[in-house]
Amino acid sequence: MKIAVLPGDGIGQEVTQEAVRVLEALDLPGLSLEWADVGATAYRAHGHPLPPATLELARGADAILFGAVGDFDCDHLERHLRPEQAILGLRSELTLFANLRPATLFDGLEGMSALRPEIARQIDLVIVRELNGDVYFGDKAIETLPDGERRGWDMMSYTESEVRRIAHVAFRAARGRKERLCSVDKANVLETSQLWRDVVIEVAKEYPDVTLDHMYVDNAAMQLVKNPGQFDVVVTGNLFGDILSDQASMCVGSIGLLASAALGERQTEYGTFGLYEPIHGSAPDIAGQDKANPMATILSAAMLLRHSLGLVDQADCIEAAVSGALADGVLGLDLGGEAGTREIGDAVISRL
Ligand code: NAD
Ligand code: IPM
Ligand code: MN
Repeated sequence: MKIAVLPGDGIGQEVTQEAVRVLEALDLPGLSLEWADVGATAYRAHGHPLPPATLELARGADAILFGAVGDFDCDHLERHLRPEQAILGLRSELTLFANLRPATLFDGLEGMSALRPEIARQIDLVIVRELNGDVYFGDKAIETLPDGERRGWDMMSYTESEVRRIAHVAFRAARGRKERLCSVDKANVLETSQLWRDVVIEVAKEYPDVTLDHMYVDNAAMQLVKNPGQFDVVVTGNLFGDILSDQASMCVGSIGLLASAALGERQTEYGTFGLYEPIHGSAPDIAGQDKANPMATILSAAMLLRHSLGLVDQADCIEAAVSGALADGVLGLDLGGEAGTREIGDAVISRL
């Protein structure tokens, strides 16, 4: 069982290190970890944010554990050399189109949610975000018009097959949960979204047991804080899913808690090939200070064991250890506590 470990930039380095320590503490027979540079770290060392050797290592592994990329010093570079292109490149090159971003309130964290405790307590949802299409991967440019004014544009598009495959993932996820699916779009304005909605309705015929609703994204953003308990599985496009998942993180207490899996269709010997990462970024404001909460990455490692390596008991074990640490008051600075990155890692390991 081979895991490619790509820590990346900023707190990506620190949080990945803790997740790896947790995996090592489980002492899994036959597990090998191989490290590679990615993001600004890779740009500085090799001249590219996603060097061919990193991509090949990732492709040849059973799963990828990813930290975060991003460095404000790189924001002036040409777009294809920016750190963020590394994660976008991995998602598209490896056809990891289905992004699962679960948000559930841990016991004892009611008071940490940005919402009132009685509202927060109801949250148990998963955002299924499409990852290979949308405005992210269309043509884009900043151009100068004949009159000298500049214009920036990004092409938003989805093909039927792109919508169909993510819809199937979402309906299957709903089947394994409370059988409710909410598709979030902006079909009242965008043709891309109208096609999205039409295709989701077609796919729904194959899942008569799942209750399907549609919601416009502006309303969904409002409903997510008004009554998040109404959501079970939410399926949405790349851009809307990006935004709504950061919002969902604060509903359960912190962005430092939200894990994610990026899956495709490829099967390995042990499960589904995938990339696992916290939903947060490289957090330059706290990088290198032992202030980052590694729980999102540790929980991503648990998702890796469950989905890609078929190690369900060990995944449960990690999740229980994180939950136990939180219940015992091991809270990072993001949750109003004082525990540092390494201390949180230790607290999880001691509870495995
Ligand atoms: P961010 O998620 O890095 O940080 C947002 C805020 O949340 C910051 O105040 C940060 O300190 C805090 N935060 C994030 N993770 C935390 C954690 N684990 N523990 C405690 N606090 C945490 O988003 P940003 O500031 O908008 O972006 C910073 C850089 O990260 C940018 O270059 C951006 O492009 C990149 N980014 C990368 C990814 C990724 O690699 N998947 C995701 C998001 C942003
Ligand atoms: C995320 C990030 C990425 C995204 C960026 C860094 C490209 O925000 O994983 O949520 O927008 O998908
Ligand atoms: Mn994001």
